[in-house]
Parts: sequence; structure tokens; C-alpha cells
Amino acid sequence: DAGGEVDGESKQDQLEEVRENPEGEQLTSDHGVKITDTDNSLKASERGPTIMEDFHFREKMTQFDHESIPERVVHARGTGAHGYYQPYEDPDLGEYDDISELTKASFLQDSDRKTPVFTRFSTVVGSRGSADTVRDVRGFATKFYTEEGNWDLVGNNMPVFFIQDAMEFPDLVHAIKSEPDDAIPQAASAHDTFWDFASLKPEITHMLMWLLSGRALPRSFRMMQGFGVHTFRFVNEDGESVFVKFHWEPKLGTNQLVWDETQKIAGKNPDFNREGLYEVIDEGYEPEWELGVQIVEEDEADQFDFDLLDPTKIIPETEVPVRPIGKMVLNERPDNFFAEVEQVAFHPGNVVPGIDFTNDPLLQGRLFSYQDTQLNRFNSANWDEIPINRPVTERHNNQRAGFMRQEINTGKASYKPNSIGDDYPEEVPEEEGGYEHFAEKIDGRKIRNRSESFEEHFSQARLFWNSMTETEKQNIVEAAHFELGKVDRMEIRERTVYDLFNNVDHEFATRVAEGIGVEPPEEPGDEIPDHDDEDPSLSMLNRT
Ligand code: HEM
Repeated sequence: DAGGEVDGESKQDQLEEVRENPEGEQLTSDHGVKITDTDNSLKASERGPTIMEDFHFREKMTQFDHESIPERVVHARGTGAHGYYQPYEDPDLGEYDDISELTKASFLQDSDRKTPVFTRFSTVVGSRGSADTVRDVRGFATKFYTEEGNWDLVGNNMPVFFIQDAMEFPDLVHAIKSEPDDAIPQAASAHDTFWDFASLKPEITHMLMWLLSGRALPRSFRMMQGFGVHTFRFVNEDGESVFVKFHWEPKLGTNQLVWDETQKIAGKNPDFNREGLYEVIDEGYEPEWELGVQIVEEDEADQFDFDLLDPTKIIPETEVPVRPIGKMVLNERPDNFFAEVEQVAFHPGNVVPGIDFTNDPLLQGRLFSYQDTQLNRFNSANWDEIPINRPVTERHNNQRAGFMRQEINTGKASYKPNSIGDDYPEEVPEEEGGYEHFAEKIDGRKIRNRSESFEEHFSQARLFWNSMTETEKQNIVEAAHFELGKVDRMEIRERTVYDLFNNVDHEFATRVAEGIGVEPPEEPGDEIPDHDDEDPSLSMLNRT
């Protein structure tokens, strides 16, 4: 059962109510009038012009003309599946007896309970029709339809991010998407703007290592890890909080394609990953991931040589182990791509009691961006009424109206306090499940800054490089040759080698430099050499 059972209705029961299949039924207009002929328009005489009063033609064409909605501004290409989340019976939580000591989120506690989920996997940069096997980050977003409302874990398949502050996100995306003048190329790789931006942003270095590695070329979605990236909070019944990082571990292990395979597959079957997910579900295999958490006590947060709020850093598992707490199984494909995969709307701000945010400046900005972009995508604030987005819990509030409102909100009073309505929605105290934000102590002055604790950018990139086998290192070097070899401007190639890679590892920088026409640095910390700069841009022929 894909939906899992919750009090009231399961997600699948809820979706069943809106499923509609016209096969074998009588053809009708949208207004329920039976239609005799849907092939010929109504004409003034046998060979005359089409007549405006042909309501069936107008309706059919208007509906078609309005079929497209804006694609997501990032993560436009994706695919999704239904399934469930189920907590493990006795997770090993280290010093904690059971998970209720960490969080009051009840769907994470009861091993008999299956919570319905919908997961969407995506690439980030390419448009809706682009290929699956490009070098890119993969999105890994899961909506948990819990008994306490929807929780969205909107993660990626890499544990760190490009930037530290949401303020930089529009710049990052403008740099990484196709260039504004000619929109070439569509895919993530191979253009000057991204590497220009990257070479001027040392905080990006750790993420670049992941991006140049095989992690950016997953063999299939079911062989891909997922990460919440940011540090979040768990909050328990007593109002105590710990920091938490979320990890998805695929049951099949992590596996990736090599570059040459990705290129051929992109040509032969651009839907390779999408198709793979549906094929295995159709054949009855149920892709599975383990949900794990890294827990850090509030008073231990300062023990690291990086800031827990910095999304360009991992917490090394050698310092804090990942503790598996449950599993997710995906076992049902959607009935309709548009209605489910395209219209699903994730938002990191969708949390349930027991899960809360931290002050990570990237996360804080995301809390604004998703709903805002969804207003653009759906042209209405009522996208949360669409079946795939509806919670399985009841919804009651004084919000109403707007484009495409589906509910009929009755009663005269849609405000509070009022003395007219006799049953207006009541607030729920925390003890009865009302959401209460963690009462973090805040004390300081308003300031637009970057914390000093966010300043070190290379040591974890080095950790990544050093953890690679020689084959993996060679793949990273070759990826850098390919990517930077597409960059026209020599100064961008040089900055990347000298200002980023040479600070990660001298041998790495040297090996990259040698393949892209850059003079290799002689030692760590070298400055970009002076040279004759008369032809800063290379010709197409000089590209590797
Ligand atoms: C999608 C913004 C960082 C994961 C999106 C969308 C926007 C956005 C506007 C499109 C949403 C839609 O149309 O429904 C941002 C901003 C970020 C940021 C402003 C930083 C300030 C991240 C990070 C992660 C992430 C750090 C991973 C942890 C995703 C995923 C999706 C997405 C998985 C696709 C969701 C889906 O499948 O519909 N993001 N993002 N984003 N973002 Fe982010």
C-alpha cells in the first residue's frame, strides 16, 4: 500500500476521489454537455469559416492554449513517486533511549505507523525537457503527509551547497543557467559565466569538489544519497532542542555513471533516470532509503572548527555518526505527471511539531523563496489545495478566496476575534499539538555581514579530495579539464586553479592546470603569474 494509513483518510484514498479516466465514457464538455463530434468545427456552410458560437471548439482550444504553466525556476526537470515512511523499531540513538527524547514528531516514533510520502527527484539547471544524465546536483525532495500536517524535507544528493547566504542565490543561478544573450548552452556544464562566478567565490570550493566527482552523475535515483544540507532542530515534548542533520542512504548503495556513459545515454535516452525509476516500480521492486540523523547537543555546537550554520560544511561522520531511524519505500508511480510531479510544491518552511529551523542564512532565505516562486508558478495562493499538495489532516482557518479557490468557506465571519460566527476556528495550545517555534534566545544588533566563523573554505574540500581513490581523483581532474576547457577566458581558468584548487591541494591544482593551458603553480599559495595578456580569450580551436 503506497499511501500508508493515517487517522482519517490515507493519501491514496484522498487522491482516489479526484482521479478521472475518460476511457470508455461518453464525451462531454467541461460543463457536462454530451458531445457528438470532436473532429470537425462548426462552419458557416460546407466550406465556410468557423463560427464563433462553436462552444466545443472554443473550450477545447482554450483549454489546450492554457495547458502550460511556468517551469520551476530551478529544478525544472524532475520525476516523482509515491510511497511511505516507516520508523525503525529500535533505532540505535547512542546516548538517547528513544527518539522521543530528541523530537516530539510522532510520525518518527511509532514503528507500526506508515506515513504516506511523495518524493520528487530533479536536476537543477536544465529546463523541463533537458536530459537526465547531465553533470549537476540532483534534488531529492520528500513530502511527508503526517497526521500533524505536511513536513517537506527538500534536500539534494550532495551534503553541502554552493553559497552561504540566500542573498547570493539569484547570482549563483544567473551564473549557472544559460547565458542571457544567447541561451547557449542549456545544461549546467561548460560555460564562462558559471566558472567566472565560481572563481570569484572561494566558499563554492567544497561544492565544486562534489560537482566534479561522480556524485554529479548518479546511475539511478535509487542509488543516490540525499541530504537536508542545513542543520535543523529537533524539539522534544519538554521544549528541549538538539541540532540535527538529515541523511537519506539508498538501500542499493551509491552508484554513478562515468562521463563517457552519461554523454552517450543523454543522446540515446535523455529520460534514462526517469524511466529507470518507473520501470523498477512497475516490475514490483520497491526502491528504499534509510533516513539517518546526526545529532549535536546545543552545548556541543562550538566544538567544531566550522560553524554548524554554514551550509558549505558537513559534520564529518568520524566526529558524529549517522544514526538510522527509519526507512522510506517508493512503490507507486503517479497516475498523471502534470497533476502530481509538476504540481507538487515543496517548501522547506513546511514543518510539523518537533522539527524546527536554525539561523543558517541560506535556510532562512529559502523559507521565503519557495512560496514566493510558487505564487509565480501557480498564479494563485491556492496551490496548497491541489490534491498532491493537500495535507491528509483537516484544514480550518480564515484564509479564503483567491484564484481557483476549491473550498466553499461558509459562515459570515472570516476574521478573529468575532462575535458573529459561532464556530470559528480555534487556536490549539502547544500541549495539544499546536506548533510552537523553538524559543531560541536572540541577543544582538541588526547587521548585514558574513560571520567570521564562515570564513574558512578549503579544509573540507581537501578532506574530500584526500578521501578519493586515485581513479576517483583522475575522474575529478578530467571533469575539471572538460569543464574549464570550455571556458574561453584564460583569466577565469587561472583564477580557478590558483585561487581555489591550489588552496585545496597543490597536486590537484597542478594536474588540472596541465590539461587546460594554465601554467601550473609551483607551490601551494602561489599567486597567478604575470604573463603577456594580449589574447585573453582562447579560440574555439584551443578548447580541450
Ligand atoms: C527548488 C530556491 C537552496 C533543494 C527550488 C525552487 C526555488 C528554490 C525557487 C523552485 C521551487 C518551485 O518552483 O516549486 C532556493 C533558494 C535557495 C535554495 C533561494 C538558497 C537560498 C537549496 C538547497 C537545497 C535545495 C540548499 C537542498 C538542500 C531544492 C529542491 C528543489 C528546489 C530539491 C526542487 C523541489 C521539487 O522537486 O519541486 N529552490 N533553493 N535548494 N530546491 Fe532550492
